[in-house]
Amino acid sequence: MIQKNNYILGIESSCDDTAAAVIHNGKVLSNVVATQKIHEEYGGVVPELASRAHQQNIVPVVQLALRKANIDKKQLNAIAFTSGPGLMGSLLVGTSFSKSLAIGLDIPLIDVNHMQAHILAHFIKEEEQTAPNFPFLALTISGGHTQIVTVSDYFKMEVIGQTIDDAVGEAFDKSAKTLGLPYPGGPLIDTYAQKGNPKAFKFPKPKVSPLDFSFSGLKTSFLYFIQKNVALNPQFISENIEDICASLQFTIVDYLMDKLKNAVKHTGIKEIAIGGGVSANSGIRKALKEAETKYGWKTHIPKFEYCTDNAAMIAIVGELKYKQGIFAESNVSANPRLKI
Ligand code: KG4
Ligand code: ZN
Repeated sequence: MIQKNNYILGIESSCDDTAAAVIHNGKVLSNVVATQKIHEEYGGVVPELASRAHQQNIVPVVQLALRKANIDKKQLNAIAFTSGPGLMGSLLVGTSFSKSLAIGLDIPLIDVNHMQAHILAHFIKEEEQTAPNFPFLALTISGGHTQIVTVSDYFKMEVIGQTIDDAVGEAFDKSAKTLGLPYPGGPLIDTYAQKGNPKAFKFPKPKVSPLDFSFSGLKTSFLYFIQKNVALNPQFISENIEDICASLQFTIVDYLMDKLKNAVKHTGIKEIAIGGGVSANSGIRKALKEAETKYGWKTHIPKFEYCTDNAAMIAIVGELKYKQGIFAESNVSANPRLKI
């Protein structure tokens, strides 16, 4: 029977973060993330190593989430887990673990789409964030995705624009690699960018259809720009790191904002929510805040810890589905290419 007063455990293992969280009536009681450091040495996520690390982390992470929430596992009403999209081996660890725990506790199992969860994280009850009103536009920007989605209800979403090649997070991470920065380089570019001049260097904005994105051209022109300048001055990167990062970030943020402006024009919807790891970026956060007065938009920026991969967003979707009685079949399986 569906309980009004419920405790939902969320489990996230789609990429390189093993995460577990407990939500009680929309509020986060615990939100634990074990980030896998092993990938830093390789300059990107190594799927095989990610699956192994999930296997090692998942039990301690879940136990810690329950302990921090100050509840016993027997008090849980349902288990929500990420079924996709993501890396197959990583997803399988969370999927199998969640199935076993749900059957052991004899409670419902709820499958969650990772990209929907990045959007629905806005419905977590927190002082620092407000829930968007339907319909709204969601810009999902992460290491694996770049999409503009119209959201007319919790589970009524339509992708109206997306990247035709790399995701925006990849553009950040690959450019950071060109600069010799460790993986993931997005947050490091952001840190340097905040001290630099965004107009110091100019990079071309890729041209594709109005609502779609492309980042591979920018990545390549950035690589050539760095190679050319390092050939002239071997100290070019270290002498200009702040200006280089500020200029790159300015170009990317401006490009994302151009696309949002096109989407607002196309749909007439002026309420916008962002989600995904790149929404932690200071440049996009500032540009969206400014858009409220500049264009009269209503914008929603998630609390920092709900931007990058986390299980609180999986648990809130779990709660929304639990209340509607939407549960997974017992033969549910991981789907690395799951669509919104
Ligand atoms: O959503 P997420 O944690 O994982 C995926 O589902 O991909 O996003 C990770 C991505 C990485 O590419 C990382 O570099 C980027 O988000 N990222 C940032 C920032 N924080 C995380 N990119 C730019 N600026 C940041 N502050
Ligand atoms: Zn993500």
